[in-house]
Amino acid sequence: MDLDLTHPSIEDLRKKARKRIPKFVFEYLDSATGRELGLKINRDALDSIRFMPSVLCGQTEANLKTDFLGQSYELPFGIAPIGMSGLMWAGAERMLAKAAVVHNIPFSLSSVAVASPEDVAPHIGQNGWFQHYPVSSADLRRKMLLRIKAAGFHTLIITVDVPEESRRERQRRANLTVPPKADFRTLVQMARCPAWCFSHLREGIMPRMRFFDDYIPSRGRESFTHAGALIRGIPDWKYLEELREEWDGNLIVKGVLRPEDAKRMVDMGADCIWVSNHSGRQFEAGPAVIDQLPKIRATVGQDVPLIYDSGVSWGLDIMRAIAKGADFVMVGRAFHYAVAAFGRKGIDHLVHILKSDIKANMSQLGVEQLSQLPHYLLRDN
Ligand SMILES: Cc1cc2nc3c(=O)[nH]c(=O)nc-3n(C[C@H](O)[C@H](O)[C@H](O)COP(=O)(O)O)c2cc1C
Repeated sequence: MDLDLTHPSIEDLRKKARKRIPKFVFEYLDSATGRELGLKINRDALDSIRFMPSVLCGQTEANLKTDFLGQSYELPFGIAPIGMSGLMWAGAERMLAKAAVVHNIPFSLSSVAVASPEDVAPHIGQNGWFQHYPVSSADLRRKMLLRIKAAGFHTLIITVDVPEESRRERQRRANLTVPPKADFRTLVQMARCPAWCFSHLREGIMPRMRFFDDYIPSRGRESFTHAGALIRGIPDWKYLEELREEWDGNLIVKGVLRPEDAKRMVDMGADCIWVSNHSGRQFEAGPAVIDQLPKIRATVGQDVPLIYDSGVSWGLDIMRAIAKGADFVMVGRAFHYAVAAFGRKGIDHLVHILKSDIKANMSQLGVEQLSQLPHYLLRDN
């Protein structure tokens, strides 16, 4: 099957994933908070960004290689951290890590993924970033940091836009729990997806947060309160300050929208700011992420590395983010639609979709370097 003919877009991968995975899994992956306005706000703002094409430019060959945080990547995008990644398809983290190495892009492992840092480490080489959610004690944090470092992760992301669990209505209606409950409703959903069930049977582990679970005393724990909820800490400035002192590798702060916050984080020693609204999963009444990007760039200056994410659905969106001030772009849901739809082949196909879309669109502008993109933006946006 030639996926470029049958599934040429991310929306095609999304539809395929929806058929292959139980409803509670799809709703977890796909939903946003509240009325899901955040998704639309991000989409509309991305769509409003346009470029001026050029003609008679002769043959151009887009160069997508990107140096970022001390490393050379083949492409200007990578894989964002997704909690319970391995719930979407058994072994998803391992497949994503291996594909990241082959395509030479970064893969971020969520602290609440199914796979632990040690599970992923043998497959990720130098391309692994680790995402950290604040935890309830400094002692616990230090133990975790030592373990992450020992596993070989050199870049740490601290996510700061989850002070509290958000309400995602679709995921609640679909009866999502972590680990999944074996009740009638969930079993019926699973029974409709035999390939998904077999993938988990083959993997032989119940999808749960293996890293966080190691820090939870099993006695006294309610069976369906997930580990993340039990040891969650509250992100604050003091936490960030302490983390900066304790982590000597690259430190990325993820989930930033205010320029003054970004500036303060850089002054405190953050190596990179990740401009994101968790793709509308936490708060739906804020600004479009892409609209904050140029404001943050103007405030922190040209030299601070900036990442964009939230709502990337085409290669063109990656170009839009770079034109608006990002050095690098991360993609979350789409990689998981891809892995749920076609496993490893799906991941390779998604990389192909994004890469070829960027190349095709850059040739319409007559542009070979990503750094030229800001000059091709239409003046009114
Ligand atoms: C199902 C799901 C789980 C996520 N889990 C995490 C997480 O564990 N840690 C984190 O920092 N961000 C998490 N995110 C947010 C992503 O890292 C990223 O910010 C967002 O998905 C990017 O937008 P996109 O999915 O539209 O590409 C999650 C997003 C989704 C959709």
